[in-house]
Amino acid sequence: MRMKQAIRSIDAFPRAEDHLLQKTQSGALVSVVGLVIMSLLFLHELRYYLTTYTVHQMSVDLKRGETLPIHINMTFPSLPCDVLSVDAIDMSGKHEVDLDTNIWKLRLNSDGHIIGTEYLSDLVEKEHAEHKDGNKDEHEDSDQKFQFFDQAAENMIKKVKQAIAHGEGCRVYGVLDVQRVAGNFHISVHGLNIYVAQMIFEGSSHVNISHIIHDLSFGPKYPGIHNPLDGTERILHGTSGTFKYYIKIVPTEYRYISKEVLPTNQFSVTEYFSPMKDSDRTWPAVYFLYDLSPITVTIREERHSFLHFITRLCAVLGGTFALTGMLDRWMFRLVEALTKPKARSAYR
Ligand SMILES: *[C@@H]1O[C@H](CO)[C@@H](O)[C@H](O)[C@H]1NC(C)=O
Ligand SMILES: *[C@@H]1O[C@H](CO)[C@@H](O)[C@H](O)[C@H]1NC(C)=O
Repeated sequence: MRMKQAIRSIDAFPRAEDHLLQKTQSGALVSVVGLVIMSLLFLHELRYYLTTYTVHQMSVDLKRGETLPIHINMTFPSLPCDVLSVDAIDMSGKHEVDLDTNIWKLRLNSDGHIIGTEYLSDLVEKEHAEHKDGNKDEHEDSDQKFQFFDQAAENMIKKVKQAIAHGEGCRVYGVLDVQRVAGNFHISVHGLNIYVAQMIFEGSSHVNISHIIHDLSFGPKYPGIHNPLDGTERILHGTSGTFKYYIKIVPTEYRYISKEVLPTNQFSVTEYFSPMKDSDRTWPAVYFLYDLSPITVTIREERHSFLHFITRLCAVLGGTFALTGMLDRWMFRLVEALTKPKARSAYR
């Protein structure tokens, strides 16, 4: 007997007496509201558990001897492909164009539709030989002047002038694989013989170096990356000059929740434009000068633990249950207090 009593006393859910178990309308209302709140909170908790969040970590960059991929895709709406060249030089003074380097040029008509394509890799190599002295604009001796005014040059000048008159543009895109050291690459008319360029443009201030950068990145994209130069438009009216983009590359490693690792790079950029003066002997160009940060960022995707989710779920659901129970009792008492006296008076 005492044993039974003792066991009963542990019961956490004592049976209520029958008159306390009446179902009331106010109780139903509170129950429905409670259920709605519970399901809302449950969905919220579930979403909280299912969505990943990212943790950023910084450390010193220990990678060595890898290459840096430069993805580029930009349009020059007012320069024909024949005059444009891409040149990349790194800090060692070496021209780094590997076999992996693929740069293409697309001819665009004045409406921006593609009308032809051209592969650029050879051009870059050829051009570099001319630029090794770093004195990019005076690489021709005057006695070479006459040698260049042969039939081929005449034809080329005619062709380019026609293209400019038709409003032809050029899209340059592809991937440059360079050494992981500071360096620069530029897109310009430097590939042209200076006299040919003079014949075509009649002065460097007439080179319309307006450009639109569709994509400039240093590796694959991960969720949430922001490449600050994407969508940049620089349209010049009645002036020309040299654009310089100073780029700081931050090596980044993105670790997916599936343990997959994506090595890539973020970057920050500042921009400088120097307008052309009549006395200048340089030709307009778009420079990208990049440097590597010694600090690397690791971004890790994480998810809240399942036990944590269950704990929160119990707290939320149990809490709501207790709260609605309390509300229900109060409502019941309130309704009782409001109706009973009347009922009593009616009976009397
Ligand atoms: C370059 O950008 C243009 C404009 O956004 C796009 O249509 C084109 O597909 C891109 N080219 C490459 C190779 O990504
Ligand atoms: C340069 O080209 C852009 C784009 O085609 C055009 O809007 C602008 O008027 C041109 N500037 C000059 C000086 O011709």
